[in-house]
Amino acid sequence: MAKEIRTILGAIEKGGDPSRDDIIALLKTADKNDEKLIFAAADRTRKQYLGNEVHLRGIIEFSNYCVKNCLYCGLRRDNKKLQRYRMTTQEILSAADEGVRAGLKTIVLQSGEDPYFTGDTLSRLITRLKERHDVAVTMSVGDRTKTDYRLMREAGADRYLLKHETADPDLFTKLRPGTVLEERVKRLRWLKELGFQVGSGNMVGLPGQDAGTLADDIMLMRDLNVEMAGIGPFIPNQDTPLAHAKEGKAEAALRVLAVARILLPYTHLPATTALASIHAEGREMALMCGANVIMPDITPVRYKKLYRIYPKKVGTDEEGAAQSIPLISAIIGRSGRSVGTGYGHSPLHEQRRS
Ligand code: 5AD
Ligand code: SF4
Repeated sequence: MAKEIRTILGAIEKGGDPSRDDIIALLKTADKNDEKLIFAAADRTRKQYLGNEVHLRGIIEFSNYCVKNCLYCGLRRDNKKLQRYRMTTQEILSAADEGVRAGLKTIVLQSGEDPYFTGDTLSRLITRLKERHDVAVTMSVGDRTKTDYRLMREAGADRYLLKHETADPDLFTKLRPGTVLEERVKRLRWLKELGFQVGSGNMVGLPGQDAGTLADDIMLMRDLNVEMAGIGPFIPNQDTPLAHAKEGKAEAALRVLAVARILLPYTHLPATTALASIHAEGREMALMCGANVIMPDITPVRYKKLYRIYPKKVGTDEEGAAQSIPLISAIIGRSGRSVGTGYGHSPLHEQRRS
């Protein structure tokens, strides 16, 4: 007979290493009571290891140009319907200024893979941001050379987000033409070596994915000991080859989030914008089953409307940090949690350094 969910959870909470089959069982059980047990264990783990604070990371989406052609993403090279933009240095710094005035201690600079921004350009931007503000800086600009990553790190970037997207190597290559999972993982290891706090993550509900793939996603992130993991539902975009694929389910994304929390107790897990975009209470629900980070989009409205990775993205009418931060803070308060006051560095990273 299959092991009971309660038994599997108990063993993990005692520090045991679950098998892939155990993880699949946690991801697959359709029993409502089991689900409650899993969500409660995730919430307990979050509270015990990370406390009640929710860390805010303000994202500036500074360019929607991309040389890649991922089948799921609206920024893909072949999407000719998308009007492209690049923010100027001044516009980027102004958006950051506003974020800092609203109380943010982390700024995330994100873009498509845009070679216009060379390693040098990006490192100059990081240097200017760091001179101006006492903030942690996260970069999210995709696949780059090790030299570029080093330049960014030397300029003072603290963290790097590079989702592995899916741990199934065949699906990875199918969805991200011309690229392989192994290379992506190699980059994640470089970033660790260079001293970045590293964020990975995956989508839930991709066509061709099953519970085994999702278990592999979590096991890969456990193996890499990532400081952060962004886990959100896949949302089909009509201007991509996956226009007619099924949307990922909020319940499924929450389940993966909860199981990830139980297995990655010190890893920062955001309540993702994608989840909030397909469910009105997405953020609140995520905060109740393991999430401890929210990433408000502080890009000026005229640009963020064009950063159309997927449709229905929440918050695209909120102008900059001045509007988005108070709304997010209210959600955090209503969830019985507090807004983080520090940089929100990863406890894993602090452990490694001490
Ligand atoms: N649905 C949900 N998330 C998506 N992303 C890209 N396309 C989609 C989509 N259609 C996510 C990926 C990527 C980030 C830029 O956005 O995980 O890392
Ligand atoms: Fe470009 Fe990233 Fe979108 Fe792929 S997921 S098309 S690399 S922005």
